[in-house]
Amino acid sequence: MQLRHLEAKGSIALYFHCSIPLFLVALIMARLSTDPLIIGRVIGDVLDSFIPTIKMTVTYNKKQVYNGHEFFPSTVSTRPRVEIGGADMRSFYTLIMTDPDVPGPSDPYLREHLHWMVTDIPGTTNASFGNVLVSYEVPKPNIGIHRFVFVLLKQKRRQCVTPPSSRDHFNTRKFSAENDLGLPVAAVYFNSQRETAARRR
Ligand SMILES: *[C@@H]1O[C@H](CO)[C@@H](O)[C@H](O)[C@H]1NC(C)=O
Repeated sequence: MQLRHLEAKGSIALYFHCSIPLFLVALIMARLSTDPLIIGRVIGDVLDSFIPTIKMTVTYNKKQVYNGHEFFPSTVSTRPRVEIGGADMRSFYTLIMTDPDVPGPSDPYLREHLHWMVTDIPGTTNASFGNVLVSYEVPKPNIGIHRFVFVLLKQKRRQCVTPPSSRDHFNTRKFSAENDLGLPVAAVYFNSQRETAARRR
C-alpha cells in the first residue's frame, strides 16, 4: 500500500517534471501542423521557416488577404494596399510579391515569377511610402491554381537593395541573401486561378 502510494507520488512528480518540455513540444507540433504557410507549402517552396515579428495587412479593394483564400484575377487587377507595423519609421522594409507556381503548380519549372517589389518602406506606414523597384504586374494564372505570396523583409539600412535583373526565375531566398535581408518578418499568400465564364456564372 505504502509503496504503491510512493510510486503514485513519484509518477506525479515525473509527470510534472516532464510536462513542461512535453507541453512545449506539443505546442510546437501544433503550430507546425496548423501554420497555413507550412500547410500551403509557402514555407518550403519559397521561404525558410521564420517567426513573424511584424504585422502586415494586404487589402484588395477592402478585401483583406488571408492565407489560402481565393481571389479572382479581376479582384487583384490593381495593386493592393499593404500596411505594415513595426516600432517606428527608422526601420525600412522590402515587400516582395511572387508566384512560385509558374507556369503551373504541377510542373513549376519557371519558378518564381516576380510580380511586385517595393523597398524602403518605413515601419508603421504603407507601401505607398516605399520605392517601387518592380511595378505591380497583374496576376494572370493560366494553368491551375497559383499561390501569390507577399513577403516582408527587414533591411539593415536604407537603400541597400539592388533591383533584380528579371521577373522570371526570381528566387526570393537568393535575392534576400544577396541583399543581406535575412529571414522574412511577415508573409501572407492567396490563391488564384483563371476566371472562366462557368466559374463566374
Ligand atoms: C498610405 O497611408 C497614407 C497616410 O496614412 C494614406 O493617405 C494613403 O491613402 C495610404 N495609401 C495606401 C495605398 O494605402
